Amino acid sequence: MIIARTIVDLKEHLYALSEGGRRSIGYVPTMGYLHEGHASLMREAKSHNDITVLSIFVNPTQFGPNEDLDRYPRDEERDLKLADECGINIVFLPAVQEMYPRPSKTSVIVSGLTDRLCGASRPGHFDGVGLVVSKLFHLIKPDRAYFGMKDAQQVAVIQQMVDDLNIDTVIVPCPTVREPDGLALSSRNVYLSAEHRAQAVVLSQSLAQAKTWIEEEATTAGSLLSLVKDRIESVPDAVIDYVELLQYPSLDPLNEHELTHKLESPVLLAMAVKFGTTRLIDNSLYHPSGGV
Ligand code: PAF
Repeated sequence: MIIARTIVDLKEHLYALSEGGRRSIGYVPTMGYLHEGHASLMREAKSHNDITVLSIFVNPTQFGPNEDLDRYPRDEERDLKLADECGINIVFLPAVQEMYPRPSKTSVIVSGLTDRLCGASRPGHFDGVGLVVSKLFHLIKPDRAYFGMKDAQQVAVIQQMVDDLNIDTVIVPCPTVREPDGLALSSRNVYLSAEHRAQAVVLSQSLAQAKTWIEEEATTAGSLLSLVKDRIESVPDAVIDYVELLQYPSLDPLNEHELTHKLESPVLLAMAVKFGTTRLIDNSLYHPSGGV
């Protein structure tokens, strides 16, 4: 496995391995502190491409001033071991100075989709994601890029960016990987105290219950959201940031009575909930066919 810390190095190795573009490149962008969710993306990339590239870069431009950039968990040695086990060919591990040698005067703003859900709670977050992902796509030129659906809004935003800018990369959304009790894997789970870890299972439990409520078609959007919020707030330390029901991938609001009729397009139930200082997100996509 090749470790490239500079852009020059990355390009040289990519050029050599891809035989001048004749071999396909599968790419997994991450911020490190890898877990089984990332491993599932790496394995998926490995099984559909000739070459697999992983990037590990804690991107400062997607963190707000009072967010966890400085304490974001890092473990390079463990990450490299997992990447190697998953058969990654090149790991790109740039320093901040390498990716941002000077402040960027160019912005990548996907409008509309980014003013709601996490975009409303974390202003500027998706501008940072758009900027770094477009820079990484330009450097790596992947045929396919793999993203976890735990960040469903991020997937929708990146798909829109790729479509709007004619970027020649297929975005492959991959299912959320969960702990046996249902908690969605996240690098931030490490911040949770034992007490909060036990309570955090309420997110996936409420999503599973919502599926039943939606399938029974016994509810409007507003009443479904109330039921879900009540369920989340039944645990003592959960503080809801948002719980919303939207069309996917447009992220357009759902008509209040839409759930009482047959669903015509996928519906995303998305939530962000704080336990102490740790903010967790989770979601579920409900398909018109009834499948999830
Ligand atoms: O999902 C993440 O880990 C990050 O937002 C990404 C896509 C690697 C961009 O920094």
